[in-house]
Amino acid sequence: MNDQLERLNRLPLRSNLRGLTPYGAPQLDVPILLNVNENTHGVPADVRAAISAAVTEAAAGLNRYPDREFTELRKALAEYLGHGLDESNVWAANGSNEVLQQILQAFGGPGRTALGFPPTYSMYPLLASGTDTRYITGERAGNYDLTAESAARQVRELQPNIVFLCSPNNPTGTALGLDVVEAVYEAGAGSQTIVIVDEAYHEFAHEGTPSALTLLPGRERLIVSRTMSKAFALAGARLGYMAAAPEVTDALRLVRLPYHLSAITQATALAALEHREALMAEVEDIKRQRDRIVEGLTRLGLTPAASDSNFVFFGGLENPHEVWQELLDAGVLIRDVGIPGHLRVTAGTEAETTAFLTSLERILAGQAALPA
Ligand SMILES: Cc1ncc(COP(=O)(O)O)c(C=O)c1O
Repeated sequence: MNDQLERLNRLPLRSNLRGLTPYGAPQLDVPILLNVNENTHGVPADVRAAISAAVTEAAAGLNRYPDREFTELRKALAEYLGHGLDESNVWAANGSNEVLQQILQAFGGPGRTALGFPPTYSMYPLLASGTDTRYITGERAGNYDLTAESAARQVRELQPNIVFLCSPNNPTGTALGLDVVEAVYEAGAGSQTIVIVDEAYHEFAHEGTPSALTLLPGRERLIVSRTMSKAFALAGARLGYMAAAPEVTDALRLVRLPYHLSAITQATALAALEHREALMAEVEDIKRQRDRIVEGLTRLGLTPAASDSNFVFFGGLENPHEVWQELLDAGVLIRDVGIPGHLRVTAGTEAETTAFLTSLERILAGQAALPA
């Protein structure tokens, strides 16, 4: 046991936190960062100017607490989502991680369970242990597929209080069919299971990929979570949100901290929503780079999964960790998600994507990659 763990264990820590390590994708100082599925295209200059102006205006009122209900922002988010939603359906927090945490605080907790289907977003089990909710791991098919029949059967058997469905799924990148969401929702009727569809990457999905937002009417246990960290290029601003029946937003009001969304965050998010056209144009280029990665990896004889997100999960590697290290040595940081034979890479700018593909080609050919 390392020193830090030993010192932690001398504290009267809750038993379900003992032995855990915090979430921590490496934050390294390298030229090309393609490891945490950020928006690599940055915030366009006109959007930056609008955010700066909005933040300057908000600064004049920073002596007062912000609007606890962030009503203007909830209205703007509802308008962005469409599907007949209004502010009573929408809730937001500091990143969708905090939204998910609030959902677990309200509907999970001691004696309750949350079901996820690994490989999936690594924060689900950590959010569960942080709220003293027991995390149960469900099963996927060998190719990481999750069918409606299999997911529904597992929900009927395990009767969890909460289910996480991640679509597009991180780290595999593929979107789920709505039949899976419908079947899981119905299977959870007896156990009153809350069904969360985490659509953090929805804006990157291929044309025509339906959102679980279409399933909200009449389903009061369904929650669709989204974020401005990815398509809106605002990972640093921390704004995640969800859409659900109004009674779900009322439940989250019971656990949120007062004034949890700062006036600066609200102003930033509102300005970005007003300028979403410029941001969505960048999303189109990110999708092009993502498709270039899928094609490039296939050409190299690797096996990329179909991606509806801004990243690509690929297999066919004999020694993924060595490839990861050699890419890092060349100045390209991608993600080793710990799945045998696989790595995950975020779509970069055109130049970053080219550097990744060229470096990987050289590494696989047994040549040293050139520094990025
Ligand atoms: C599937 C998924 N959900 C949620 C998040 C959390 O994003 P944020 O807290 O920045 O909104 C991430 C971040 O990478 C993610 O991959």
